[in-house]
Amino acid sequence: MTLHHLTLIMGCVAALAAIAPASAEEARPDGKWSIALHGGAGTLTRARMTPEKEAEYRASLQAALDAGAKVLREGGTAMDAVTATITVLEDDPKFNAGRGAVYTWEGTNEMDASIMDGTNRAAGAVAGVGDVRHPILLARAVMEHSPHVFLSGKGAEQFAAEQGLEIVPPEWFATEERKKQLEKLKKEHLSALDVEFKFGTVGAVAMDQSGHLAAGTSTGGMTGKRWGRIGDSPVIGAGTWADDRACAVSATGWGEYFIRVGVAHEICDRMLLAGEDVQTAADKVIAEVGEMGGDGGVIVMSKDGEPVFAMNTPGMYRGRATSEGTNEVAIFSDEEPTKGD
Ligand code: GLY
Repeated sequence: MTLHHLTLIMGCVAALAAIAPASAEEARPDGKWSIALHGGAGTLTRARMTPEKEAEYRASLQAALDAGAKVLREGGTAMDAVTATITVLEDDPKFNAGRGAVYTWEGTNEMDASIMDGTNRAAGAVAGVGDVRHPILLARAVMEHSPHVFLSGKGAEQFAAEQGLEIVPPEWFATEERKKQLEKLKKEHLSALDVEFKFGTVGAVAMDQSGHLAAGTSTGGMTGKRWGRIGDSPVIGAGTWADDRACAVSATGWGEYFIRVGVAHEICDRMLLAGEDVQTAADKVIAEVGEMGGDGGVIVMSKDGEPVFAMNTPGMYRGRATSEGTNEVAIFSDEEPTKGD
């Protein structure tokens, strides 16, 4: 072998090492990964669903789940899986995040999002952004490319443009159904829940092959929101939390209650400090929300990759997939999840 050949081989080895995902280098021998998502909780009853509508929702949930599962299966990070899943849901007008976001009282779309990396508890969040196609990517950019955790309004939009994120016109977010909900709310003096029937936030939690956790949440908030109202979704510790020592959480619900209970952080704290198992911690915290008068649900990923759901509503759009073969989506609280392919 000539020196030229040796140099060539060494170059190839170096190049391959450079493109291999960091998580694959550190992957645990069992290659275990896990992901869960939600698309909002609320009074999702069978009476309100046609078979066609139900099938459409299940297909959308499965598509978003597949996007995140693919990242994890191929050795990508939990952060990448969470953003892959949420960007699919943000582009789907059926969900209240990104395209399809609900309207404010003034008839605009103002979106909130947050993301957290369980590896080091780095976090990013945005509130009240109106022209960014993927608020979850903006939250991630805040985390990765700014010295801050939480940006809002015009400043957040300016940061998005500076970061080269996709900026879209207001029509991108506009949907007839959401417009009608705002009109009905105003005309009949109703609450957001009377017209939406659900808290249509979206979110994802994941554990990658290195055992790292991540969580993300994105929402349009509540129909008819005023005065710059911000819910729990972009509030780190309320709507989103991730800590490799305990769990990752994304919430969907009546934001005011979820903030007051500190839902996402509280679940992980119970696991970390009180040694509760993941389902018990999630159930107890959702029960506490209920006792205070709020409702909604959570998806939780334990540090061992166990994905669980908890809700006090009749339904929650949800799904989960694992390296061990789980692959299912569900809508109603009392149903057995349906298996994907
Ligand atoms: N959970 C979404 C909100 O209250 O805005």
